[in-house]
Amino acid sequence: MATHRRSLEEVCDLIGGSHSIRDLSQKLQFYDQWAPRYDQDVDVLEYRAPRLAVGHLAAAWSSPPEEALILDVACGTGLVAAELRRHGFCQIHGMDGSAGMLERARQQGLYRWLGLCTLGQESLPVPSDQYDAVTIVGALSEGQVPCSALPELLRVTKPGPTPPTCATRRIWKKPWRPWSGPGGGSGCWSSPWSGGKGPPPPRKSSPAPQARAEEATASSPA
Ligand SMILES: C[S@@+](CC[C@H](N)C(=O)[O-])C[C@H]1O[C@@H](n2cnc3c(N)ncnc32)[C@H](O)[C@@H]1O
Repeated sequence: MATHRRSLEEVCDLIGGSHSIRDLSQKLQFYDQWAPRYDQDVDVLEYRAPRLAVGHLAAAWSSPPEEALILDVACGTGLVAAELRRHGFCQIHGMDGSAGMLERARQQGLYRWLGLCTLGQESLPVPSDQYDAVTIVGALSEGQVPCSALPELLRVTKPGPTPPTCATRRIWKKPWRPWSGPGGGSGCWSSPWSGGKGPPPPRKSSPAPQARAEEATASSPA
């Protein structure tokens, strides 16, 4: 059924209202209800985070993308999977804490496996060292996926020579501070760009990343 396309002001009001939701189960209920209109609403916002995150991953990837097994954490409706497919990644698993968002993702038919899991409260229902890369886009923030869940993302990622990278819009506004919480510590994480004042510089060449976790919340919708 065709729905009225919300204006930018209406979408901003909707998202602004969601920022006051501090309780995680209520936040996930918000996503359940938003799911049918999520893609249309973030299109109004010109939401670019999935394209930026996957572009960054693809630029650093030196082995055939079709061989890589990717986990898309907090996958939502599947916008990240669509970008991954565009870059040739086709073995994609997804998980999310919202059944409504997962249902939309399932309808896209882009994921080989989808799981319901609330990070911060539950462990990922997958074995350790399973994925060549883990993506989390638009979800690593207060009231959503907490930083304390990062070790769980690392657990399921195959070990490799390069550290995971973590980039958020906040880094562009504030000086980069390496995350040093559980599972972190000096040298555990790197920023894909320096200075913290603008978009990432073009990557020249990088070593083959066997394990990489990517996060981008540039223009994060909620
Ligand atoms: C802004 S959407 C981003 C979805 C998708 N990654 C994208 O970029 O379009 C945030 C997603 O994170 C999920 N989420 C939020 N907190 C979560 C948690 N603690 N565990 C699992 N999923 C969570 C929500 O259900 C929602 O689908």
